[in-house]
Amino acid sequence: MSRQERPEPTIFTIFGAAGDLAWRKLVPAIYDLFRDGWLPDKFSIMGIGHLHTKKSQYLDHLREGVEQFSRHGKPGKESWENFVSHLDFLEADLEQKQAYQDLSDELERIEKDWGDKAQRVFYLAMPPAMMAPITEGLAKARLNQRREHARIVVEKPFGSDLESARELNRLLGRLFDEKQIFRIDHFLGKETVQNILAFRLANAMFEPIWNRHYIDHVQINVAEKLGVEHRGHYYDKAGALRDMIQNHLLQILCLVAMEAPITFDDNEVRNKKVDVLHAIRDIPPSQVHEYAVRGQYGGGWLQGEHVPGYRQEPNVDPESLTETYAAVKLYVDNWRWQGVPFYLRTGKRLSDRITEVSIQFRPVPHQTFPARALLDRQPNRLIIAIQPEEGILLRFESKQPGPSLHLTPVMMQFFYKEAFREEPVDAYETLLLDIMNGDATLFMRADQAEAAWGVIQPILDVWAEQRPTDFPNYQAGTWGPEQAEVLIAKDGRTWTLPTILQCQEDIAMCRVHSVDDS
Ligand code: BG6
Repeated sequence: MSRQERPEPTIFTIFGAAGDLAWRKLVPAIYDLFRDGWLPDKFSIMGIGHLHTKKSQYLDHLREGVEQFSRHGKPGKESWENFVSHLDFLEADLEQKQAYQDLSDELERIEKDWGDKAQRVFYLAMPPAMMAPITEGLAKARLNQRREHARIVVEKPFGSDLESARELNRLLGRLFDEKQIFRIDHFLGKETVQNILAFRLANAMFEPIWNRHYIDHVQINVAEKLGVEHRGHYYDKAGALRDMIQNHLLQILCLVAMEAPITFDDNEVRNKKVDVLHAIRDIPPSQVHEYAVRGQYGGGWLQGEHVPGYRQEPNVDPESLTETYAAVKLYVDNWRWQGVPFYLRTGKRLSDRITEVSIQFRPVPHQTFPARALLDRQPNRLIIAIQPEEGILLRFESKQPGPSLHLTPVMMQFFYKEAFREEPVDAYETLLLDIMNGDATLFMRADQAEAAWGVIQPILDVWAEQRPTDFPNYQAGTWGPEQAEVLIAKDGRTWTLPTILQCQEDIAMCRVHSVDDS
């Protein structure tokens, strides 16, 4: 969020530089920042670990990643060579002390060449089992010293439950100051997710109605078309609740539900988010089934193509009981939100890829209009579309033109691409720049990560104890298991997804309806 400044000289060390995250996300994002002039002149990327290929092949592989995933697309010869001149790789066995001494020597050599002290970022794009050896290795080589200038970045999953997250926090806290630790959740770098706060707090008209008196319920839907792809090893131990709800969806919930921070200071913003997590009502184990539903996809059809079920995916146990879908109802017990349900839903291999927050308002307190005018009435709804479209839509009632009194829903809409005539930057670009600038506003603090685990821990416990007997219980290419419809239907509501399409359909239908009427 501090994009106005170019960072000071920086050495960006990536643990896991030969891995998928570096290939798809980190290097393309750094390349885009480089192309747009956001990086300092004194800048170096240092990969560390085992390459298993020649360096030239590794660079070709990175270039392919940049071609596919960078905003700038295929790099030109000159700009690629220029970029690569900032990139180096240190062969090392990360379980050996020597690796960290070599790294330290290398960092000092670069600083000496520059004649400048650099900020040192250590990015851990590694499986959880490597967290302890790497952080301890860094500390033994005294690379955690120079507290103002050394930062460690930890990717998700941040632990696998409340206890392991606490343990990880203890380890990190013993070796680094909290200010040095950046726990990344890439959803928080998405433009529209950041825009939730701007929308709420920079406009006077919404905040007064942003509460239980006007809002009926909130839905946070993150639907994915993709299956687990090549991530079966990881995913089969994680599942949708750990992979998505504990982090991305709860973070969005915090932004929707939090009180206004006094300043835009990183700790102040994070304090307000933690307050929300602490206010979420505990789910008693005996009631978990009333608040949470899980599902796993079987084979099905997506856009005319047959796709395999989860249990047939590579590196997945053929009898796996891991959930690929989770729907949860939560209440935030405070003055603002008492009694307003927040429905969270995510799943893989659903019918479409759509992420959106939908805020549904209460009906008007008294109906002035005759019943025949209200046949197409729909509640007011505010939709924050996060992907694939990024924008904000407001649905409200309007009089249909013509002599008869007929109310019909219409939409006001804002789309990023149209309004700003440019593609929003990738979440990782924003977050990497924030790390280099030492701005932790968009990163999770230790207590926040633990509080989020605390919210879902009762569900994890009950689900681990009571094995599902009906998996797979939804077909790929649908909107998930029937039980999820029941979860919300019991409250007299329905899932809104895909809201944009549905709203447009509703409006189109109303038009047809009123044309028929006349
Ligand atoms: C990751 C999850 O954190 O987020 C993946 O591990 C998921 O399972 C991904 O697919 C979704 O992110 P995005 O930015 O592609 O919507």
